[in-house]
Amino acid sequence: MVAGKKSEPSVRYALIDCDPGVDDALALAMGFASPFFRYAAVTTVHGNVSARLAYRNARRVVSFLRGHLESSIPDVPVYPGASLALDGSRLNRSESRMIHGPEGMGAMFDKKRRLPRLGRGSSKPAWEVLVGHALKRGSQLTIITLGPLTNLALALRHAPEVFSRVKRIVVMGGAARMPGNVTPAAEFNIYCDPLAAKEVFSSGLPITMVGLDVTRRALLSVDEFKGGGSFRAALRDLIRVYARFAKKRRRAENITLHDPLALAVAMKPDLVETASCRVDVDASQGIARGMTVVDLRENKESRVKNPVDVALDLDVKGFLAFFISHLREYRGWDVDEE
Ligand code: RIB
Ligand code: CA
Repeated sequence: MVAGKKSEPSVRYALIDCDPGVDDALALAMGFASPFFRYAAVTTVHGNVSARLAYRNARRVVSFLRGHLESSIPDVPVYPGASLALDGSRLNRSESRMIHGPEGMGAMFDKKRRLPRLGRGSSKPAWEVLVGHALKRGSQLTIITLGPLTNLALALRHAPEVFSRVKRIVVMGGAARMPGNVTPAAEFNIYCDPLAAKEVFSSGLPITMVGLDVTRRALLSVDEFKGGGSFRAALRDLIRVYARFAKKRRRAENITLHDPLALAVAMKPDLVETASCRVDVDASQGIARGMTVVDLRENKESRVKNPVDVALDLDVKGFLAFFISHLREYRGWDVDEE
């Protein structure tokens, strides 16, 4: 049971589960700048970096963001999560280090920059926090997952009945009609823990899958981070490695906002068009490990059992404007006042 105030009926609560990670940090920056959600917790998970680093990075990012917001948000508690996939498999993180930097935060927290103090931490495991908030906040709670689904799958294994009242679960992950990004078949978050994804997508809960079909179109020019004040300079440091990898891999001067889009969809669902489909996951050790098999067939023999709302189209301009409008809320996005 999560201690704390009784839920106020009009409040929308959110819990973000993430593996920061550059785009995870950008998602937190966008979300915290808006009063749309009251953030009950941030839970962390293995993925882009180790579980230990994800936990430390999230605490630093929360602390850093709070220090640059006029309307200061409460000190959102951060909780440590799973360090291994459900099947015990370990991921080779060499490519993740090239994308997110050796410690997962690009150059944002490098030595020359004053490190923000670590934000509020706790030893309570992430799956327990997910269960506690689902129990306490119920239909007022939206869960947004930005990394592998290990924590959520563990929470469902411990208390499946508790999640039936949760308002929405928005998952950044998977791909319906396009190749993966970590193998030809698999998107990274699903690849890291396919068994967890299989259990989550077949749970029958109200899930929106925000996969590569839409996130690959959520491309923001690196020019948006030029100039401005100290906050924008810090984000420039954050994306430096991420942008360099994009330039090398895609020959592009833009960055892919996978995680910010998932959180934006939780706040503004009309940014995407979805189809209600069954989503299965290959949890084998074979060549298609981590593939999300999305049943887009028109002539489905029977009403799909446990469908997922799969995002297939995106209002690109609308999302990018939404994202930038939130960053403008930070002190130091524009030139620092004297
Ligand atoms: O495939 C993109 C996803 O993998 C994002 O969540 C990114 O942070 C990485 O975790
Ligand atoms: Ca992520």
